[in-house]
Amino acid sequence: MSRGSVIIHTPDEIRRIRKAAQLSALAREQIAREARPGMSTKELDDVAGAIIHSLGGRPAFLGYCGYPANICISVNDEVVHGIASPDRYLLKGDIVSLDVGVAFDGAMGDTAMTVYLGDEAEMPEPEARLLKGTSEALEEGIRAAVCGMHIRDVARAVEKVAKEYKLGVVREYVGHGCGIKLHEPPEVPNFVTPERGPKLQSGMVICIEPMLNLGTRKVFVERDRWTVRTADGARSAHFEHMVLITDGQPEVLTRV
Ligand code: MF3
Ligand code: CO
Ligand code: CO
Repeated sequence: MSRGSVIIHTPDEIRRIRKAAQLSALAREQIAREARPGMSTKELDDVAGAIIHSLGGRPAFLGYCGYPANICISVNDEVVHGIASPDRYLLKGDIVSLDVGVAFDGAMGDTAMTVYLGDEAEMPEPEARLLKGTSEALEEGIRAAVCGMHIRDVARAVEKVAKEYKLGVVREYVGHGCGIKLHEPPEVPNFVTPERGPKLQSGMVICIEPMLNLGTRKVFVERDRWTVRTADGARSAHFEHMVLITDGQPEVLTRV
C-alpha cells in the first residue's frame, strides 16, 4: 500500500457508500441510546448487532482480521478496539467509545463517538474537556478536508485543537480511506508528519478519527491482542466521521 496512493470512487460506488455510511450513523445513534450503567459490554454488543441487522446491514468489524465482536466498545482508558465481555459492566461516570461498522450492498460505513454515562451537567472537568476537545478536533479536521489540500492539512487541523485542549494525540492508530473496503489508502494521521501526504481529490472518501488522551499519547495493546489502552491509565476519547471530498465543501457521510 504505497504512501502516495488514493482511491477515487465512481459515482455508483459513492451512491452505495453514502447508504452504508448513513446506516452506520443511524446505528451509532441507536446504540449510543442503549448504553447505560449496569449493563455488560457484551449485552451492548448484542444490542448493537441486532440494531445493525434491523437496518438491513451486517456488522463490518465482525471477523475482520479475526475481530470477534459486532462493534468496538472501548471504556475509559481503553482507546480503541475494545472487545465486548460478559464480565465488563458499564458504570455511571464511565466514558464509552462506540465504533460502528456497517457493510451494505458491497460498501462500508465506519463511524465512532464517545458518550458519558451520567448526567452531562455533572461531567467532571477533565472528561468534559476530553470529549469536547476530541469532537472539536474532528470537526476542524473535516473543515480542512477540501479538494486541493493535502492529508497533512487535515492532520494539522486536528492536532492544533488537541494541543489547545492539552490532550495527548495517539500516533500508532490513524484514520484511513474507506468505502468499498473498510480500510483503504491513504492513512490519515492526527498529527503533522514530515510528508504532506496525498492531495485531496473529489471522489475520495476518508475516515477522520482523532484518538485523544487526557494523559500522554502513549498506548499499548492488551494481552487479548486487540484492546488498545493508554500507558498511563488516563482516559481516552475517539470520534470518527466518513468524509467525501467534493469539488466544493467536504460532505460528511455519517451525520444523522
Ligand atoms: N473501526 C476501526 C476504524 O475506525 C477499525 C476496527 S477494525 C476491528 O478504523 F477489527 F477492530 F474491528
Ligand atoms: Co471506526
Ligand atoms: Co475508521
